[in-house]
Amino acid sequence: MPTEFSKPLSATTRLLAVYGQPIRHSASPAMQNAGLAALGLDWRYVACEVAPEQLAEALAGAKAMRFLGLNLTVPHKLLAVPLMDDLDESAREWGAVNTVVFEAEDPEGWWRPIGQLREIRGPIRARGYNTDADAIVSAITQDLQLEVRSSRVLLLGAGGAGRTAALRLAAEGVSELYLVNRTQSKAKALQREIEERYPAVTAHVGYPEAEVELVLNATSLGLKAGDALPWDAAQFDLRRADAAYDMIYRPAETPLLAAARAAGLRTANGLGMLLHQGAAALALWTGRPAPVAALRAALWREVYGPTGEAR
Ligand code: ATR
Repeated sequence: MPTEFSKPLSATTRLLAVYGQPIRHSASPAMQNAGLAALGLDWRYVACEVAPEQLAEALAGAKAMRFLGLNLTVPHKLLAVPLMDDLDESAREWGAVNTVVFEAEDPEGWWRPIGQLREIRGPIRARGYNTDADAIVSAITQDLQLEVRSSRVLLLGAGGAGRTAALRLAAEGVSELYLVNRTQSKAKALQREIEERYPAVTAHVGYPEAEVELVLNATSLGLKAGDALPWDAAQFDLRRADAAYDMIYRPAETPLLAAARAAGLRTANGLGMLLHQGAAALALWTGRPAPVAALRAALWREVYGPTGEAR
């Protein structure tokens, strides 16, 4: 079912965009436009290829053209932090911006998202948010029916995504985190950071001896056919875990998830993270609850095709 807007594009249509490089495979326009249509808004969401050295210009351009908001993806999430006029607590906490809300003052002098204002008077400011980190917990909780708090987690990967996942899971109150990464020094640095920021959480470097509730892959292994497995099967038998989550969603079933399913674990791929970060961004721009079912249906169709098969 194609996205149906009640109004065609016109001079009153307002714009949102995602900036990234590369951007042409982004599923966000399909997802967000379905959400905008479901909400009956005369808004559209487009994808723009933006080079990192032109991010500042592109942000200023969107502000000048009165775009309502933006999403930022690779390689902009860290670069955008010092370019914002204001940072939400979420962006400060996680040190990255994936959602920008353009704001202006309402008649009472409160800064409000311009998508929620009848009229824009005075200056516009860019306020940076991070909806990625919470999306990790939402996706794991909903897709795996797993209570993150007090659980034990084997986390594969200590790069950008792995670090955010580790810190967000620690903030959620996991009891133990086992950190495994090809470059062990990064896992050790992350262990130290968790010990400093979340002293109630025990972080180990290496595989667990005992059972864990969750194995979480935050490495890039599994994206390409022929990739090595992201964990050492000789050191950790998957049957010692209850569930496996892979942040990768293309392919729909990575070798880790296939092995986990064969071993009887509950499994889910990373598309739920994309859904939940997008739903949270849409709610920030509109001030209304996101139509999650419409977003999910459009996202799955865009990524896996009308029959739901992996592309
Ligand atoms: P992202 O922002 O997606 O996390 P990243 O910061 O480059 O990207 O992190 C990629 C992760 O995949 C890292 O954990 C990386 O391990 P290193 O820190 O040792 O580089 C992991 N990774 C990538 N290719 C790998 C490979 N061939 N074998 C093992 N781990 C790999």
